Amino acid sequence: ARTAAVIPAAGRGVRLGPGLPKAMRQLGGTPMLVHAVRAMSRAHAVSLVVVVAPPAEVATVRGLLDEYPPPRDVELCVVPGGATRQESVRLGLAALPEDVEVVLVHDAARPLVPADTVDAVAAAVRAGAPAVVPALPVTDTVKQIAAPAGKGEPEPVVGTPDRSLLRAVQTPQGFDRATLAAAHARHAEGDATDDAGLVERMGAPVVLVPGHEEAFKVTRPLDLVLAEAVLARRRL
Ligand code: CTP
Ligand code: MG
Repeated sequence: ARTAAVIPAAGRGVRLGPGLPKAMRQLGGTPMLVHAVRAMSRAHAVSLVVVVAPPAEVATVRGLLDEYPPPRDVELCVVPGGATRQESVRLGLAALPEDVEVVLVHDAARPLVPADTVDAVAAAVRAGAPAVVPALPVTDTVKQIAAPAGKGEPEPVVGTPDRSLLRAVQTPQGFDRATLAAAHARHAEGDATDDAGLVERMGAPVVLVPGHEEAFKVTRPLDLVLAEAVLARRRL
């Protein structure tokens, strides 16, 4: 029962602002994607990492991974991604060899996830949970609106969910491979940003395990400032 990691890295990173595709942007002098591959490779369960690259960057990403090999003896492969995250994940899953039974899907944009978090997710799947998601309590109170208003327009509030019942989810999300493949096959048309959500829609159980603050997603420019600071603290 092999465990593989699929790393969707094919996004442009529009919210981060102009520049290289987000996964290729530097963090501590090294491309973000290299950090993400290292983080997944350090997990003992993982023996294969599939990187889903921007289609125009497949050769560049292969070159990067030759230049920065993973810390353990882990098999690496690079495949071209799609127009949405969901499509990129589906293309990554399609590249897995038959003997893979557990899949961890991890955003390249979460380069600093600790190895212990990765191992905990993998262990929970291996112990029998079909879908496992690292999550943290929400710190901001969250308001629900009926529909997004135009830019700068006031938005009427329709409700305030009880914050103690809300969780913010992270990656790696871990799955029984057959469950995740079935969920992606069933909802091939959509643009889900969350793989576990597809599994929920199929009626299969999804459980949360504790996430980690350092597994935050680099989305906006301020996140890059935080990521540089976390990395500098680790290197002390
Ligand atoms: N992703 C992908 N293929 C896409 C879109 C996103 O593989 N077509 C990946 C990103 O590379 C990232 C992860 O999905 O590692 C999470 O997505 P997000 O943070 O939204 O990254 P981007 O889509 O690149 O950023 P933005 O939405 O700001 O453009
Ligand atoms: Mg996106």
